[in-house]
Amino acid sequence: MPASPPQSIAARSVRHVWHPCTQMKRHADAPPLEIVRGDGVWLFDAQGRPLIDAISSWWVNLFGHNQPRIKAAIAAQMDRVEHVMLAGLTHAPVVELSERLAVRTGLDHAHYGSDGASATEIALKMSAHYWRNVGRPGKNRYIGLAGGYHGETVGALAVTDVPLFRASYAPLVRIAHATPVPDSRACPSELDQAARIEQAVVALDAYLQRHADDTAALIVEPLVQCAAGFVFHPPAFLARLRELCTRYEVHLVADEIAVGMGRTGTLLACEQAGVRPDFVCLSKGLTGGYLPLSVVLTTDTVYQAFWDDDAARGFLHSHSYTGNPLACSAALATLELLDDARLRANAALAQRLDALFAPLHEHPRLRHARRLGMIWAWDVVDAPGDFAPRFAAAALQRGALLRPIGATLYFMPPYVIDEEAGAALRDAALGALAEALR
Ligand SMILES: Cc1ncc(COP(=O)(O)O)c(C=O)c1O
Repeated sequence: MPASPPQSIAARSVRHVWHPCTQMKRHADAPPLEIVRGDGVWLFDAQGRPLIDAISSWWVNLFGHNQPRIKAAIAAQMDRVEHVMLAGLTHAPVVELSERLAVRTGLDHAHYGSDGASATEIALKMSAHYWRNVGRPGKNRYIGLAGGYHGETVGALAVTDVPLFRASYAPLVRIAHATPVPDSRACPSELDQAARIEQAVVALDAYLQRHADDTAALIVEPLVQCAAGFVFHPPAFLARLRELCTRYEVHLVADEIAVGMGRTGTLLACEQAGVRPDFVCLSKGLTGGYLPLSVVLTTDTVYQAFWDDDAARGFLHSHSYTGNPLACSAALATLELLDDARLRANAALAQRLDALFAPLHEHPRLRHARRLGMIWAWDVVDAPGDFAPRFAAAALQRGALLRPIGATLYFMPPYVIDEEAGAALRDAALGALAEALR
């Protein structure tokens, strides 16, 4: 009997790998693309074809693939110790990382998780537990922003206001209140913007007047709600949220998982509003896209409420890989790369790229061109229902990894993209747009 031909990695993947955020039936005719190598902003498939990683591999990669400094930091740590549990033990990388994050954020206490959703759940649990420890156990509900996204584990889904992700699990979830956002697209003038902020603030104020006593925290994605379709709100709104949270004694949780680590131009997006949250969640770019790690940073006030002889008043939350030394070493190398000079260089680079992207800003089928830091987004006018997958496939054929969210096209490239790759990305996007709208 002839031997059956060896199956490709892509075919084997469809058989045994249940891919994330994917209706697997889509892969019946179009298997996933096998990637064998990465270098800078480029990924390479099994045929050696280059692809620009224009979305930083789900927003995690900051300094490109195959980054020598991050690789060296991980390798050096690998020769020392790869992993130890963080209960009862500690190690230099986690201590140094916590110290550096404290200096850069003003939040002194770091609790680690693995992915973004574990960080948002840690912050939400810690907030409610804080209120319990200070004698206000009734404060155990949450508020999120309309359209907010904070991860997809059951607790995080409570504050993730995206029906596609939540509807199937609604009976499992204790759904949080969603408060309106002054979407910058609806505010063409500063006057409109001020009025929209006021409307949103009045709505939240009215809710808090009735519910502050049962609300632990408000969780927000500061400045840009990426998964909602790149909904931008002005820093002034964030500052008003801080005021309301302080007035009504509700924690402000800044989920900076997507927008932190320099993505919006500052290390944390909150800095642009002059706001210090009670909790900051970081993940994704924290390790430069190398290893899974998340962290929740919080204040001394919160920390002190858990300091007690009674174990049950402590925060008894853990994950096996909490504070993994390799991941912390990658994060330390990433923070070294992401210094103030780099943030300034990013601002200049973003402006140069912005000029290159002019044909997209002016494209008759794109509107609401918007940018903050190294995030660009446009909404497609009259997009067909299947625009996103069609566009993504057409972009792949043209050498760009892009995944629109609904009818919103966006770029979120690594910070090492140069103008040549920027021009190639623009041309791929224009070509894919023409094909997907045909
Ligand atoms: C703002 C925000 N929070 C939380 C998450 C969840 O992170 P993870 O996918 O690592 O669980 C994401 C992921 O996209 C995110 O964008």
